[in-house]
Amino acid sequence: MEELKGIAELKEPKRAQARHDPGTRTARAKIVRVKKEIVRLVERLSGGVQPPGDKSISHRYAMLAALAEGTSELRNFAAAADCHSTLGCMKALGSDVNLDGSTVRVTGHGAHGLKGSWRTLDAGNSGTTIRLLTGILAGQNFSSKISGDASLQKRPMKRIVGPLREMGAEIRARDDNFAPLEIKPARLHAMDYRMPMASAQVKSAVLLAGLFADSVTSVTEPARTRDHTELALEEFGAEIERHGRTTRVRGLASGNNGGGLKARSLDVPGDLSSAVFFIAAASLVPDSAISIHNVGLNPTRTAILDVFAGMGAAIEMTGLKSANGELVGDLAVRGTSLKGGVIEGETIPLVIDELPMLAALGPYTEQGIEIRNASELRVKESDRIAVLVENLRRMGATVEERPDGLTVEGRAAGRLHGAEIDPHGDHRIAMAFAVAGLGAAGETQIGDADCAAVSYPGFFSDLRRLAES
Ligand code: S3P
Repeated sequence: MEELKGIAELKEPKRAQARHDPGTRTARAKIVRVKKEIVRLVERLSGGVQPPGDKSISHRYAMLAALAEGTSELRNFAAAADCHSTLGCMKALGSDVNLDGSTVRVTGHGAHGLKGSWRTLDAGNSGTTIRLLTGILAGQNFSSKISGDASLQKRPMKRIVGPLREMGAEIRARDDNFAPLEIKPARLHAMDYRMPMASAQVKSAVLLAGLFADSVTSVTEPARTRDHTELALEEFGAEIERHGRTTRVRGLASGNNGGGLKARSLDVPGDLSSAVFFIAAASLVPDSAISIHNVGLNPTRTAILDVFAGMGAAIEMTGLKSANGELVGDLAVRGTSLKGGVIEGETIPLVIDELPMLAALGPYTEQGIEIRNASELRVKESDRIAVLVENLRRMGATVEERPDGLTVEGRAAGRLHGAEIDPHGDHRIAMAFAVAGLGAAGETQIGDADCAAVSYPGFFSDLRRLAES
């Protein structure tokens, strides 16, 4: 067994990096600190942790609160930089936004109370912000421009621009597919949209545009995806109907719901996608026993727990309760030997954000991990297939890359060793390899570790605490 224990932190000298340019003359380059984190082998993880508020839910609550009449109080709002990009956009569109620790108060002026911003709206690194907000902006009576950082400007937008145009939206995109997006005022008409792909962001963009359409918009998805938009719309008082994989929303001006959304006081559950890094960490470090509190357990998100259970993980769910239509509970996780397996088909959209962690766990499993039908990973915050393959190989794993996934050999292919990890600015890659480093021989250095703040600013200190308690 290695002698080194615990996780230490190494700070690189501060260096200015212009990482952020939403593509406008008015955009100011942000100076960010680039930090390296060092992870070493640990013998056990113990103690409790509470992941930050759910990112997906926080985005939706912030947007709907800005469309409601009055002040909504959103408690345990995500600390994620992505959700703060959404808050910044809603503020730029005329909502009052007040932060008090993890409580956010958003005062909206009704569904038609948004105001145009002369600045380009800045979605930062957040695909959810740009895609969902474009659905809302498509139905306004003012023009908008929205963009984000270099990574976001490479991500496909045709998937939302296409259906929104079918509703009458006037949107221009760079090369007809990329941000910046320019959205002109338009009158939207309702439509029945059969989605060609399983994407919660596309479904949500169309449903949110449907709030501004003349009658009932329906969206049918080919496979189940997270349903936070549907639940949040219900919470804020929109008229929603759900049958199987079809969701219908009535345009606010055409309903008998008083024509508007109501301000709400809501608790955001902890983010299961963030909790997964600790589930993986505790599973792979043999003598671990940790508890993860107040985690969102919405059934459209918990397929990852089934995947872990199928691999033999020791996870116990307790204290289940329902809050604002969302299920919440605690998880207890113990170290075990994981079997590994194949993840494919309809499971993929349900575990899409957890695939980096599963792949990085592959070398610690008996049979390895195989991921199929996941070409979507190539257009996330980074090309996650390529970046996973690159960094797994740096740590000595045996990996095969395919267009739609990868195969990572299990324990028999040899033990991982520490390496310098380049997350390519992708938060989930940085966190996944920090976890992989907990079982590797020697030191794993996570470069640009600050990028974890896109979803989980306190990740490294929480991980360190579990390793030291
Ligand atoms: C999200 C949906 C998923 C996910 C993303 C958040 C959401 O994207 O990867 O992190 O909040 O709707 P897709 O809908 O593009 O699969």
